[in-house]
Amino acid sequence: MNVSNRTLFIADNLPILRGIDSECIDLIYLDPPFNTNRNYKAPIGSPAEGAEFKDIWRDADIEHQWHGEIAETHEDLYQVIQASEIIYDKSMKIYLMAMAVRLFEMHRILKPTGSIYLHCDPTASHYLKFVMDALFGKNNFRNEVVWCYTRMSAKGQRKLSQAHDLIFWYSKTSKWTFNVDPIRLPYAEGSKKREGHTLNRLGSGYSKEGKTVLNPLGKFPEDWITHIPYLRGKERTGYPTQKPLKLLERIISASSNKGDVVLDPFCGCATACVAAEKLQRQWIGIDISPSAEDITKLRLEEASQQGDLLSSIQMSDVTVSNAPPSELLILKLLSKGDYRVPISTSTNSTAYKRDIATDVVSIFALGI
Ligand SMILES: C[S@@+](CC[C@H](N)C(=O)[O-])C[C@H]1O[C@@H](n2cnc3c(N)ncnc32)[C@H](O)[C@@H]1O
Repeated sequence: MNVSNRTLFIADNLPILRGIDSECIDLIYLDPPFNTNRNYKAPIGSPAEGAEFKDIWRDADIEHQWHGEIAETHEDLYQVIQASEIIYDKSMKIYLMAMAVRLFEMHRILKPTGSIYLHCDPTASHYLKFVMDALFGKNNFRNEVVWCYTRMSAKGQRKLSQAHDLIFWYSKTSKWTFNVDPIRLPYAEGSKKREGHTLNRLGSGYSKEGKTVLNPLGKFPEDWITHIPYLRGKERTGYPTQKPLKLLERIISASSNKGDVVLDPFCGCATACVAAEKLQRQWIGIDISPSAEDITKLRLEEASQQGDLLSSIQMSDVTVSNAPPSELLILKLLSKGDYRVPISTSTNSTAYKRDIATDVVSIFALGI
């Protein structure tokens, strides 16, 4: 892989993703802007002061050649994206195009055993699912995880409080990592009462000699999360839309193993990177906001001081860069069975094309 562990890129994630080798990432978690039509800013005086990002989508946010890039590889998806302008408005089309070109790269760099978790909210979730089905395949959809929290209602509000986010989990293929034990949850009181009784088919647990036995590690979890509150208290850095560490720890424990590579291409204040470090995974973070660098280092230092990390890491262990990873030379890739190939480069975006070639020799007409 052409990116080392603990690398933080401070840049637009598109050229960075385009520069990353194919099929080298085990888990991608992304929490991009949701097309909420507003801008976000960290409060003055908070550790994240200075951090801001925009979530308003205009014509200037897309590059002309993306039309061709999407239409050429995924004509069906291109049509759906065009239709979103009619159903919703132009901002949705622009947002989905910006997401599609990036998700296309995420699909390419994910290992065949890898998983991707796309965090969004009801503004665009139903449109994003079209994009994910087109790029990852409907058969690779694993779960729609619903993260529920509580939130105060606004004065005079005349609808229900929106108090959940959606996280789409897709695997790249039919082989994926799933570790259920670290994410099991306590049984309900009703289930506990059934322990030792004759098996009730509708209850939790499993049957041993006709009696209900509960798993000592807890019950098999559902696709909704109600035990992780919205961020409050000490963990809060002020970084706009920061997600709870516990949520990321849950995703990373379930869908990766120790030593695996976790990538967050919209990492913000690096919640996923800190969770990956705690769980002894390798990590790569990308964020366009320059303030992400200081806040990431601050959070890693704090986790280190609090003994949350196995080995205390020095900030010199974190590589910060704003340049795309260097492309592997095609010649280096011609070894038998190695199909990763840059067809053009991440910096040459007008002629950009990168894929997982199945026949390198014929693509380049090398005559060998
Ligand atoms: C919803 S926040 C992520 C919050 C993060 N999950 C956390 O817990 O801190 C979205 C992030 O995407 C970043 N972002 C927006 N557009 C980007 C782009 N094109 N490339 C990289 N980062 C981008 C923003 O700066 C912002 O930090």
